[in-house]
Amino acid sequence: MEILIAKYAGFCFGVERAIKFVYDNINIKPLYTYGPIIHNRQVVDELNTKGCQVLENLDGITNGTVVIRSHGVSPDIYKEISNNGLQFIDATCPYVKRIHKIVNEHYDNGYKIIIIGSEKHPEVIGINGWCNNEGIIINTVDEAEKLTIEKETKLCIVAQTTFNQYNFDIIVEVLKNLGYNLYVFSTICSSTYERQKEALEISQKVDRMIIIGGKHSSNTQKLYCICKEQCENTYHIETIDDLPLKDFNKNDKIGITAGASTPKNIIEEVIITMSELLNENQTFAELLEQSLVKIQSGEVIKGKVIQVTPNEIYVNVGYKSDGILPKSEYTSDANLDLTSEFKEDDEIEVLILRVNDGEGQVLLSKRRIASKLGLQVIEKAYKSKENLSIKVSKAVKGGVISIFNEVSIFIPSSQLDDSFVDDLTKFVGQTIDVRIIEFDARRGRVIGSRRIILSEINAELKIKTLATLEEGKKVKGRVKRITKFGAFIDLGGMDGLLHITEISWARVNKPTDLLSVGQEIEVLVKQYDKENQKVSLSMKFEEENPWLDADSKFKKDTIIEGKVVRLADFGAFVEIEKGVDALLHVSQISNDHINKPSDILKVGDVITAKIMDLDIEKKRISISKKVLEEKEVVEEEVTEDTEA
Ligand code: F3S
Repeated sequence: MEILIAKYAGFCFGVERAIKFVYDNINIKPLYTYGPIIHNRQVVDELNTKGCQVLENLDGITNGTVVIRSHGVSPDIYKEISNNGLQFIDATCPYVKRIHKIVNEHYDNGYKIIIIGSEKHPEVIGINGWCNNEGIIINTVDEAEKLTIEKETKLCIVAQTTFNQYNFDIIVEVLKNLGYNLYVFSTICSSTYERQKEALEISQKVDRMIIIGGKHSSNTQKLYCICKEQCENTYHIETIDDLPLKDFNKNDKIGITAGASTPKNIIEEVIITMSELLNENQTFAELLEQSLVKIQSGEVIKGKVIQVTPNEIYVNVGYKSDGILPKSEYTSDANLDLTSEFKEDDEIEVLILRVNDGEGQVLLSKRRIASKLGLQVIEKAYKSKENLSIKVSKAVKGGVISIFNEVSIFIPSSQLDDSFVDDLTKFVGQTIDVRIIEFDARRGRVIGSRRIILSEINAELKIKTLATLEEGKKVKGRVKRITKFGAFIDLGGMDGLLHITEISWARVNKPTDLLSVGQEIEVLVKQYDKENQKVSLSMKFEEENPWLDADSKFKKDTIIEGKVVRLADFGAFVEIEKGVDALLHVSQISNDHINKPSDILKVGDVITAKIMDLDIEKKRISISKKVLEEKEVVEEEVTEDTEA
């Protein structure tokens, strides 16, 4: 007395998902499904009583929301929905969507599309729409053998997701032998394949095989055909009422499976009845329990990738339902496309996050396995004070964040550098070394510091720098920070101050005119206070002092040209050489009376003047513009007299 229950009996992932979409939106009025949501009368009737109506077409429907079922539809239907002003909820199974994509891309690239499946099946009708209804539909070996198109034609082969794998393989073989150039895509849904394989295996071992599912359900019909070949006493029933119980006896070994659109309660009812009939000591729960692969939350297991979309990975974990690994549970990188990471049949290690038997869903996580390991690495680094090399992912208020092995490490701006950071974004994308200064795995709080590492490096450098500094020596440095009054120069582990008046022999309006942060410069150690470790620097090197040979360059009574660089009430300063300013007193500007220099001069004016007086030692030169005007007047008068 034994009952073998198929693990893969009942709703597949796509049907489960589609029904959930409908129930989640059942309060939207009016709500329609485009065709019955599943091939199951009981479910469709129940939804109908809740107000969800089945549409056979969209004629005259101009208001409401349409749920597109797991079979998917052609592009024309999307267009019609939009033209009719309707809303839609797309419950197309992601596996079917993938076929639409393959077909559409290959059609656009000049392939002839061959769809292996039943031409009347809504999924096949929908798929054909994605190649402009020009696909060739083949359902049998016979039809394949009769295919007559040019041998050079490139053929793209896809299959209805619920097609029999064995028959598909034969049809492909036939087409190959006919000499066609084939590009075959394995699009039979793994849940279908597993269901069929399991049904075949069970039916080989039992006396009677029960297939539960709608009479119009194609995948249930296929299950029936597969099992019937192995077990003469195979029954296709919609509910327990269809089963001829009188045929069964206590010694029978019974197998039970169900189509993808058979609700769990209907399967349960059959199992309970059969278990009561055959084995009064064994409960339904026990029987069901025996049939399932056992998985539980928190378990890490290996699975096989059966489908990848940009945002989800579907994994066969050996359980009755496929597992879903959403992108958010794979990575913290919202821009990552999962199709670039995995492909079908790849093995993947996952954490079972939730097994919801009520809805048959298995939620998986990969990220949490990585983050568990990441936390271990971080904790070790925290305890041993080792540095971690991390890449900064983004700037946030008050600091930056790095995702290290799926663990978020926060580096406050105060811990990011050894000086004030005004632009956090410049760190984004950079790989930096940090020391973990706070670690709380339970609260997920991990704080890193780069400043600590820089301080340690600087402390060592400082010792070396201090040992080599001496007044009058030229040293190399890097501009670290610029202020209004000068710049701080990193000399290696310590800073020296370069005052604005020491940046150039010439007058400097603001330090940023000549310096920029990060610039490498040579400076002179002007003053070095060893005790307080303070250094004043200068870029006014003596050999470049413009006053050095001023004696020979500037002579009294010579006429020079210069640029007005500054105006005061008592006169204007005129740069007669870079770093050498002469004073043009207000009384020496013009023969006409002026109140202040700015009455006739402005900064930037280039003027001609005469050197009236020099005191090279005191770095003073007086010039006059007025005396040249007097000379001009005299010359004009002489010219006029001569002409007269
Ligand atoms: Fe989708 Fe496979 Fe079901 S294609 S609808 S999960 S049978």
